[in-house]
Amino acid sequence: MTQIVKFDDNAVAGAVEILRRGGLVAIPTETVYGLAADASHGEGVAGIFAAKGRPQFNPLIAHVANIDMAERYVNFDPLSRKLAETFWPGPLTLVLPLKEKQGTDRPIHPLVTAGLDTLAIRMPHGRVRDVIKVLDSPVAAPSANRSGRISPTSAQAVYDGLGGRIDMILDAGPCGVGVESTIVKVEGDTLRLLRPGGLAAEEIETAIGARLERTAHAAAIQAPGMMASHYAPDAAMRLDVREVRPGEALLAFGPDRVRGAGKAKALLNLSATGNLREAASNLFDFMRKLDAAGAATIAVEPIPSGGLGEAINDRLKRAAAPRDEYS
Ligand code: TXA
Ligand code: MG
Repeated sequence: MTQIVKFDDNAVAGAVEILRRGGLVAIPTETVYGLAADASHGEGVAGIFAAKGRPQFNPLIAHVANIDMAERYVNFDPLSRKLAETFWPGPLTLVLPLKEKQGTDRPIHPLVTAGLDTLAIRMPHGRVRDVIKVLDSPVAAPSANRSGRISPTSAQAVYDGLGGRIDMILDAGPCGVGVESTIVKVEGDTLRLLRPGGLAAEEIETAIGARLERTAHAAAIQAPGMMASHYAPDAAMRLDVREVRPGEALLAFGPDRVRGAGKAKALLNLSATGNLREAASNLFDFMRKLDAAGAATIAVEPIPSGGLGEAINDRLKRAAAPRDEYS
């Protein structure tokens, strides 16, 4: 049985109790809903992989309540500290060296890091930090969807994919950002972008006064969870279209429509004014809705690549990629 609980102050104690005994709770964050387990609880963390049907033990992000909690587990260099102080809480994940001796008797379970000597860590926005604070341990949380499918931005979307497989869903309404966090790794003086996400790379570059490295190859090795095919709807996806073909649904962007739009089987506009933030927050929800409309293919209008457009285009490309054995 999966309870959906409105996320008010009264919900905190019940969620913590489930997490303490190794249960699974779907949590709202500003990016997407996450599927959380106590990061120190091996069975709990293993339960995440089982519920998602994840074929491999990819490393997970640990979510902390504050910087002090983060400091129990990882070493901050001056650059990452500056990033944390500037952008936390918020959609930024830092990959940092795990402390050899963690400052707690409930260390991060090795399943969370997939045995790496680094930990991906972030402080999310919102009430979920109250749960983490009371639990007094970070929660590991990937997006709360079946492996390879579209990430959920509402409690109902979580329920549609994972209902019956998890203990509780904390419902705080739709997520504001709508795409997953931006992941960066500090390597000496270099900052490497491992995954574009809800914090625009340009904002990070402005804050540090330097460019982010973006080697796709390195990202593939260092973020093993970044499979080519991901976020897949049932429908095929056709990107950067110039016209809509008969029978296709259309995911639109901006004020102007491509040819044939009037005949689309279904049409949703990510942002009529061409606002990339609005588009990011609508992306996964609209992909689900167009998928449910039953078209064999979802055609997608071109979306600019700057700012949050980088993350939007990254997710669309994965959704359109040939489906491999993981999808
Ligand atoms: O917004 C988000 O980041 C959401 C919400 C729930 O917080 N979470 C999320 O988690 O997107 P997930 O598991 O779907 O993505 C985690 C990514 C994966 O690509 C994984 O390979 C990478 O982070 N990752 C985790 N630990 C890593 C590490 N130590 N080094 C490099 N990449 C790592
Ligand atoms: Mg995911």
